[in-house]
Amino acid sequence: MALVTTTEMFKKAYTGGYAIGAFNVNNMEIVQGIVEAAQELNSPIILQASAGARKYAKAAYLKKLVEAAVETSDIPIALHLDHGADFDICKDCVDGGFTSVMIDASSKPFAENIEISKKVADYAHSKGAVVEAELGTLAGIEDAVKVADDKAMFTDPDEVEEFVKKTGVDSLAIAIGTSHGAYKFKPGTDPKLRLDILEEVAKRLPGFPIVLHGSSSVPQKFVKIINEKGGALTDAIGIPEDQLREAAKGAVCKINIDSDLRLGMTAGIREHMAAHPDHFDPRQYLADGRAYVKEIVHDKIINVLGSENKA
Ligand code: G3H
Ligand code: 13P
Ligand code: ZN
Repeated sequence: MALVTTTEMFKKAYTGGYAIGAFNVNNMEIVQGIVEAAQELNSPIILQASAGARKYAKAAYLKKLVEAAVETSDIPIALHLDHGADFDICKDCVDGGFTSVMIDASSKPFAENIEISKKVADYAHSKGAVVEAELGTLAGIEDAVKVADDKAMFTDPDEVEEFVKKTGVDSLAIAIGTSHGAYKFKPGTDPKLRLDILEEVAKRLPGFPIVLHGSSSVPQKFVKIINEKGGALTDAIGIPEDQLREAAKGAVCKINIDSDLRLGMTAGIREHMAAHPDHFDPRQYLADGRAYVKEIVHDKIINVLGSENKA
């Protein structure tokens, strides 16, 4: 199967009440762990690369790794640019064969966000690729609580119709309380996504695919392994999986996960090195990191996404 766009994936996910996992890739073992799990569960997936990933692995290597994943599996795979900062990087990825790009102009004023997102959408569509844009600013619960009254950090449902209409983008990332990284909430707090905002957005954009960034749940199993094997992660807390599952049953068609994979890879390597301090063959410890990446993606497909057997 060739690389696909997310169009069909999202259509089916919307009507089927599930979401597609968008997993960040940075090296071969991460690609392999993700794809092995998705293949075993017959789940479609999105492999996404950030600007940092393209710099680290070199864009050409990353593209070839994803092509190898496509060649050795028979599930639908989309290749997506994560957080494209400007038109040029989006164009570069579309020209280089990405089937989907994100233009992230969410920190810009509304009119400017519309202008740049439309420019990217026009270009990508002319080349057969699709576009995700973002409206609202992702924040941790701390920030969210601070601005709860004016709702400055959350997506304003009153803006989404105009934004989508004027830009022509294919999906929209919104801010409802998720945030990037492994430290999303303060210990002792009761993390709550603003599913009411999601519902409002869905009412204004019937059938339109919504995206959630910052959706790692920070499994404590891996935090514990890392800490027991010499790490020092304190208060790493993620998004409750049941709330993500609720969102996936509604308008959310794409759920972004990166931090959890980082935790899994690091836990596998730390555990391996602690058990075998004499080892120095990277294949030995990277294989254990890859196994945890696979385990995490497996669990996400079952517990969060609901995309098992939807390939
Ligand atoms: O949302 C950001 C992703 O986790 C990618 O992070 O830019 O460090 O690769 P990165
Ligand atoms: P996490 O840091 O929660 O994994 O979010 C990843 C993400 O949103 C990538 O765009
Ligand atoms: Zn993100």
